[in-house]
Amino acid sequence: MDEPVKRIRGVRDILPEETHLWRFVEWIVHAVMSTYGYQEIRTPAFELTDLFVRGVGLETDIVNKEMYTFTDKGGKSLTLKPELTAPVVRAYIQNHLDREAPITRLYYFDDLYRQERPQKGRLRQFSQFGVEAIGSPHPEQDVEVIALAYDLCSLFEPQGLTLRLNSIGSPEMRGEYLERLREVFQPYAADLDQLDRQRLKNNPLRLFDSKNPETQAILDQHAPLISDHISSEDREHYEEVQASLRALGIPFEHDPKMVRGLDYYTRTTFEITSGKLGAQDALCGGGRYDDLVKQLGGPDIPAVGFAAGVERLLLVAGERLQEKVTPRQLDVYLVVLAEEARAPALARAQELRAAGYTVILETLRRSAKAQLREANRSGARAALILGEDEVKKGTCMVKRMDTGEQEEVALEQLAEKLDGILHPKPETD
Ligand code: HAM
Repeated sequence: MDEPVKRIRGVRDILPEETHLWRFVEWIVHAVMSTYGYQEIRTPAFELTDLFVRGVGLETDIVNKEMYTFTDKGGKSLTLKPELTAPVVRAYIQNHLDREAPITRLYYFDDLYRQERPQKGRLRQFSQFGVEAIGSPHPEQDVEVIALAYDLCSLFEPQGLTLRLNSIGSPEMRGEYLERLREVFQPYAADLDQLDRQRLKNNPLRLFDSKNPETQAILDQHAPLISDHISSEDREHYEEVQASLRALGIPFEHDPKMVRGLDYYTRTTFEITSGKLGAQDALCGGGRYDDLVKQLGGPDIPAVGFAAGVERLLLVAGERLQEKVTPRQLDVYLVVLAEEARAPALARAQELRAAGYTVILETLRRSAKAQLREANRSGARAALILGEDEVKKGTCMVKRMDTGEQEEVALEQLAEKLDGILHPKPETD
């Protein structure tokens, strides 16, 4: 026997026992996004590699280590999208969405690809939903985005969420901060690993992403805090964001060490974490990125957004959702007992489906007993039994699966009979 081909590491099959949960999450996301006035955008699965190099940043883990990049037959370097902010901004610029409205609120639900070391909550293909609000520089826009993220995460996990917030200021002040960071690290430069030495040279902010405990210890003990090195306008902006969140009753913690692992952020950054997850505890991350649209060749328009990981949300909410969200039950299992009944059974199944019933029809030509056992296993609420006699008489047997009662019904009365079983009228005294 040939060896079966296996799934590669870090990707998942989502089987029928779970797909209804995914559809439920998608449904909730579409519903909540529209209550905030966001419109859906879908972008291609791959983009020019340069988009991510310019958008996310050369020294970030995503670009440096995690991209699925390939050269197509035309010699172009393409990359499966590892995140969606850069593609959405690319689409915004390319389709001139700025000319249609002064502010554009977009959301997505999509698959992404990052070649990370797989572990619980960390996959190589995973799903995110998120938003990009492009147009407003004001704190209320940050608050709208954070409230939306918090709202959606709370729907899946009502307890145990932590919202952490920081401001990393505007790039004008960043130079001075990065200089301070370089000074702190210079005495230790020779002891750093190669990647951190490269980070120190090219983009010291990315030292915060280091997995090396020694680098983290230097950061803990000696590094200045970025939120102490922001301009007074940035500080005011950040204070307004915090005041509005307090006014809305959204709890948060100021986390002066959170810089986020993507280069495009300016001013507000935030993450929502759950105590139920292990090392990969971030359900959601986002922030303001006022310079990205311009950096990618568009107009000078500020923006803010977030993205949440669907697999992680399902990890924290899965059991509760499994109890609450059940797939639609099968209405009818059509049992076929004779050759003469096969064609009429196919026709009845089509008629019933057209009328909105969910129907499975026996196609394995099994014995009556096996078919009824299958009807039971399938969870159908009624079995319709069609044999030679019924076909001749223009009837069918209807069996209620809950009580086992069975009755012969004329085809004209079938819908009424089924409705009585599927939607019983409440008893009145
Ligand atoms: P991110 O922090 O890279 O941000 O990803 C956001 C969320 O996606 C994470 O909090 C996590 O839940 C999920 N996630 C990330 N990587 C994986 C993985 N390998 N496996 C499973 N889940 C994962 C961004 O992607 C930014 N584009 C967010 C943003 C939008 N910022 C502004 N607008």
